[in-house]
Amino acid sequence: MQHIYIDDGSTNIKLAWLQEGKVETFISANSFKREFSFAFGIEGNNVPVNFECEGAQFSYDEVAAQTERTTETRYQYSDINVVAIHRALHAAGLTPGEISVTVTLPLSEYLDNQNQPNKANIEKKKNSIKRAVTAQDKSNFVITKVKVLPESIPAGIDVLHSLNTDESMLIVDLGGTTLDISQVKGRMTGISQVYCDPLIGVSMVTEAISVVMGAESTTQKANSHVAEKLLISYHTDKSYLERILFNEALRSKVIARIQETEKALCKRVLEAINRFSMYTHVMCVGGGAHIVANAVKEATGVPNANFHVSDNVQFDLVLGMLTLQEGVSHDR
Ligand SMILES: Nc1ncnc2c1ncn2[C@@H]1O[C@H](COP(=O)(O)OP(=O)(O)OP(=O)(O)O)[C@@H](O)[C@H]1O
Ligand SMILES: [Mg+2]
Repeated sequence: MQHIYIDDGSTNIKLAWLQEGKVETFISANSFKREFSFAFGIEGNNVPVNFECEGAQFSYDEVAAQTERTTETRYQYSDINVVAIHRALHAAGLTPGEISVTVTLPLSEYLDNQNQPNKANIEKKKNSIKRAVTAQDKSNFVITKVKVLPESIPAGIDVLHSLNTDESMLIVDLGGTTLDISQVKGRMTGISQVYCDPLIGVSMVTEAISVVMGAESTTQKANSHVAEKLLISYHTDKSYLERILFNEALRSKVIARIQETEKALCKRVLEAINRFSMYTHVMCVGGGAHIVANAVKEATGVPNANFHVSDNVQFDLVLGMLTLQEGVSHDR
């Protein structure tokens, strides 16, 4: 039976699996409307659009002005989370049928007050993930076995194995809606401390983009997926930003807002990091890693060689999960 590693974040589902010994990955946005859409049931590339879970109907839609909010903790156990996973499996081109999966829970859900695995939450997550989802006009995936891992920690596995046991690494995972920070001892011999703030995430920036566009333009409204694409374009290749925000005045306002909110986001992340001490290494992961990396590096003062941020920050966690369970390392 095929085993799929799934980092089911609140804004994007990241998948990794082994195909003939090679690691494959795929990312799918959580952009759904709560009703079927008349899209002939199938996207042009043969990916289903309409899904049903326990009677609730959803359609995948990247550009609708109103999409369902998935950026809250209760999303973790919701029908839309399972639907988003099934959509990702279909879109990744995997073969429908019985599969087993490994999924994640944010640290705040995964651990209890004593930093022990929260069995009730883990069981709740497993049962939620096993629920049946039907894709219109397609064969379906049936998830028969579920393993649950904590977010952030597996992302550091490669580096953690190279540390001495008296060293420790701070793993700062800044995702769409959650900031997860863990201080993990070398060789993974223990977790010293964790901190999670489910209100700090890149969505602070993407929501600000949607708000400024809603206020400044009557025709250009950005749902969270469009706001995400604008933000990524601002950080990487500006062409999408320039094409979509063709009005220069609006574009400048959006860019100014991005810069302001990113500054505020860095400040919040640094406040959270202040709770930790005596770490020797630092790693930034998650979609927001590059937004805060410089500020984190400066504030923590660790030497260059002890600071890690990859070129593939959204996939660090899911690839770490695969390495942890399969023992297969991968190129980053
Ligand atoms: N290069 C980039 N520059 C800036 N932001 C980016 C970049 N790449 C991705 N992002 C942002 O990162 C966010 C998604 O990150 P990620 O996939 O780690 O979140 P998630 O796992 O869905 O959320 P969470 O962990 O909070 O549940 C999005 O808001 C996206 O806009
Ligand atoms: Mg995440």
